[in-house]
Amino acid sequence: MANLLVTGGAGFIGANFVHYWLKEHPHDRVVVLDALTYAGNLASLESVSGNDAYRFVKGDILDKELTTSLIAEEGIDTIVHFAAESHVDRSISGPSAFVDTNVVGTHNLLQAAKACWLDSDDAPSTHRFHHVSTDEVFGSLKKDDPAFSETTPYAPNSPYSASKAASDHLVRSYLHTFGLQVTTSNCSNNYGPYQFPEKLIPLMIVNSLEGKPLPVYGDGSNIRDWLYVEDHVRGIELVLQKGRIGETYNIGGNEERANIDIVKTICAMIDEAFAEQPDLVERFPGAPAANGASTESLVTFVTDRPGHDWRYAIDATKSETELGFSPSQTFESGMQATLEWMLGNEAWWRAVMDGSYREWVATHYGGNTE
Ligand code: NAD
Ligand code: DAU
Repeated sequence: MANLLVTGGAGFIGANFVHYWLKEHPHDRVVVLDALTYAGNLASLESVSGNDAYRFVKGDILDKELTTSLIAEEGIDTIVHFAAESHVDRSISGPSAFVDTNVVGTHNLLQAAKACWLDSDDAPSTHRFHHVSTDEVFGSLKKDDPAFSETTPYAPNSPYSASKAASDHLVRSYLHTFGLQVTTSNCSNNYGPYQFPEKLIPLMIVNSLEGKPLPVYGDGSNIRDWLYVEDHVRGIELVLQKGRIGETYNIGGNEERANIDIVKTICAMIDEAFAEQPDLVERFPGAPAANGASTESLVTFVTDRPGHDWRYAIDATKSETELGFSPSQTFESGMQATLEWMLGNEAWWRAVMDGSYREWVATHYGGNTE
């Protein structure tokens, strides 16, 4: 039995991880620590809230006293660190929060882990600090460049990726200097249930349903390598189970797509869904697909993101050969599952977007999320 501390567990990937872990590892305890920033949403954890193996703590990884006492009090032996500011556009308009949470926050957590696991008489017999990072630390690829491997030199280009790169280096240093048992995974773009609709795929789905413009940055030629979120979660599980201490593992879907192709795929899927499900016309009367028009008519090319990385691609050979990792979803099957989830969970994304889920939290938790 393991006692996990999952930071950022009310965010997109963290919530998917918590659902998966409680289902697949029913004998483990899962404590979620999350500051509930705009991106954290307790409604994403509603279905596990009655599980005795789960506890939610509202708190900031910048609070060293809280993180240290939580690790000690709960007998935590495994930290899976998701908490971060994660949106590149926000790192351009307001980079400081990215340095605070991603760099200083990660360092606080490392210090708390060191205090409880290396400097304490009550330390658990084994421990693991797993750091969830991104492929963006490797910078941008040209068309024919080989995909990022674990030995690709770091070349972060945005305040977001620079802050994640800094946190990766700090994690590495805590093994080499202090002996903290760490692993890191660098993953490509995720999509799937519970993703905040500021990111490309959920934003395009929501705007298509509401008849709003679909803003494509620049000429739409930028390429990302897409992975269904549960496959990322399974990749992290494999690193926890089989990963070698001090190693980094790339996780990716081998599904490179240009943004404009992603957007056109979503448009076509929505047109098809409206043709097959007549109730959608009533539910989303503002959608072009409800009015005999094509969803693609909403595509709008807008000013490019400053410093926009052109291409990311992950070489996941090490995870495949060493850990046995392989994605279970193709891009097509993952997108179908995502669209179905979005259509079936309208209340979730509406509440997230208008902020009213905070009232939901107050009703369900009486304002106390501890
Ligand atoms: P997210 O923005 O959806 O969620 C982040 C969570 O962290 C939120 O619940 C937020 O409330 C919490 N948080 C933020 N600051 C905090 C703080 N100071 N203290 C405690 N909690 C705090 O992010 P995500 O997309 O789920 O990403 C999770 C992790 O995975 C991040 O570290 C990100 O860098 C990494 N990652 C994301 C992707 C992706 O495609 N989304 C891909 C690779 C790696
Ligand atoms: O590669 C992994 C990274 O993927 C993660 O580390 C980040 O946390 C995550 O946010 C994501 O970063 P991106 O910047 O690639 O994701 P985003 O969804 O913001 O954008 C995907 C692509 O789509 C990117 O090239 C920018 C473009 N885009 C995005 C938005 C929101 C648009 O063209 N229009 C948009 O409105």
